[in-house]
Amino acid sequence: MKILGIETSCDETAAAVVEDGKNILSSVISSQFHIHEKFGGVVPELASRDHIRQILPIIDEALKKANTTLEEIDAVAVTKGPGLIGSLMVGVTVAKTLAYANQKPLIPVHHIEGHISAAFLGSPDIQFPFVGLVASGGHTHLYYVPKMGKYEIIGKTIDDAAGEAFDKVAKLLNLGFPGGPAMDRIAKEGNPKFVDFPRPFPQGMDFSFSGLKTSALVWLKDHQGQDYKVADVAASFQEAIVDTLVKKLKKAVELKNVKQLVICGGVAANSRLRAKLSHEFSNINVALTPLAYCTDNAAMIATAAFFQKTNSKHFEQFELEPQANISLA
Ligand code: KG4
Ligand code: ZN
Repeated sequence: MKILGIETSCDETAAAVVEDGKNILSSVISSQFHIHEKFGGVVPELASRDHIRQILPIIDEALKKANTTLEEIDAVAVTKGPGLIGSLMVGVTVAKTLAYANQKPLIPVHHIEGHISAAFLGSPDIQFPFVGLVASGGHTHLYYVPKMGKYEIIGKTIDDAAGEAFDKVAKLLNLGFPGGPAMDRIAKEGNPKFVDFPRPFPQGMDFSFSGLKTSALVWLKDHQGQDYKVADVAASFQEAIVDTLVKKLKKAVELKNVKQLVICGGVAANSRLRAKLSHEFSNINVALTPLAYCTDNAAMIATAAFFQKTNSKHFEQFELEPQANISLA
């Protein structure tokens, strides 16, 4: 079964063709970072306008690279939300139109279910039940997943998402946008023990990153004009986020008594997090999403749609409307 996936929830216009939820025939992504860079964050109106410009050429390219046509596609899958409403609307409208015109089933996909499904692209042998960490620019959620399609929230951030904290502190350090990858790169040359940032650990299973962000801001103000290496501050900040995520993951694994972890979302691309997880969880199975599919892409949407398609038969939802805020559980 060949599924065309379409993703436009934020600032990436993406299309992909995936066969049977595992063979990626094509995955094309057009990032808008050059448009939003000078504003230091995503400007929703500019994002939706660029999606309109990019979406059809990107879909054409994905079909061409997959050496296939719309007629040969078995279903069209699209991110229904959560995300920026204007951005989501572009993908949903195009997907509905293509599905209707070509008489193909339309499969709406929750963006977070897409991120979780991306882990299967690198680890087809993931065992259920598992604990999944979704850490991105908008989410830092821990889920208990007994099977695909069933999600229980164990904990989530009560303020900033981990990716948001990376982006905001990277901005303070003048590392550009998006800040996560830049912080990751420069931190490789820094000393993670240079600043002893707090490891925020709220009661229960939730996360909190805004206090950590504030302590970085305070440290930078206190040391203004002084001689320090940005790489050292970046490495120290990154270490505090990674420690916090790893510590809570350990607690979640214990609480749910699982043998499998799944790590996904943009922050799953962080090299220090990946290294630390492999080291700290040597006794259980850790599925790290393949690097190319951590940040937003459409292969994850087509993969999630395949899992749904094999579980149900009713997909022709032409009344589908995008939703900026929808919870997975
Ligand atoms: O999943 P994603 O592409 O979009 C959302 O659904 O939010 O995640 C983007 C987030 C951004 O905050 C970005 O800075 C962060 O993921 N990110 C990283 C890395 N690569 C992307 N954070 C830390 N280290 C990275 N290597
Ligand atoms: Zn995402």
